[in-house]
Amino acid sequence: MAESGTVVQRSRFGASMRRDSWWLELLPVVLVLGAFSIYATWRAFEGKYYEWGPYLSPFYSPLIQPKWWPLSPALLILWAPLGFRATCYYYRKAYYRAFFLDPPACAVGESRAHKYRGETAFPLILQNLHRYFLYAALIFLIILWYDAIRAFWFDGRFGIGVGSLVLTANIILLTLYTFSCHSLRHIAGGNVDCFSCVSFGGPRRTTWRGLSFLNEHHMLFAWLSLFSVGLADLYIWLVASGSIQDSRLL
Ligand code: FES
Repeated sequence: MAESGTVVQRSRFGASMRRDSWWLELLPVVLVLGAFSIYATWRAFEGKYYEWGPYLSPFYSPLIQPKWWPLSPALLILWAPLGFRATCYYYRKAYYRAFFLDPPACAVGESRAHKYRGETAFPLILQNLHRYFLYAALIFLIILWYDAIRAFWFDGRFGIGVGSLVLTANIILLTLYTFSCHSLRHIAGGNVDCFSCVSFGGPRRTTWRGLSFLNEHHMLFAWLSLFSVGLADLYIWLVASGSIQDSRLL
């Protein structure tokens, strides 16, 4: 890896001594992330079919509808989950490679020579806001857990619909994604050389170990929760628009 301020030597784009099909990794990222971005943008601007019975789409939660706001309510709140994902350490790697080809993969030639500054200058320095988006994401998690529990109450009576299970699966995966975050792991165990030398060292160590375990699977949770949040919204859109009926299991 080049150090900050180092001019990276120019090499032919795509040139590499790697023998594997490194470019194959880029295709699913382009397809899945691209398709999700198009779908989420359309749904955020659509502004309807986001609620049915006790179900509320995660794209629209918390539902804020001030009288002075003429557009879709999703546009008022999506900055938080969008900012959290866009600045995620894993997604950064994925979209820098897949969409910007900068670089396309490890040990593969880039398209242009440039001064390597890491994420120390505008606009990429904004990626450092990730820890603040994490705080917002933790608040959103509480709200989405509330939505998932509410999805089991139909007209004041307990029940289970397919939508209840879809929203529950979604919030579990979103929780795993958020709790496997690198920044959260750093909050628990970063800047500590010796757990027994600091306040609450024992609980911090236990928390850090648990978060470290989840962190090893962060990429998996990032993709699964992306699918689940998109599918949860799609399900509610289909039910609310009358395209399908929600099946009650209880
Ligand atoms: S690093 Fe991916 S969510 Fe924080």
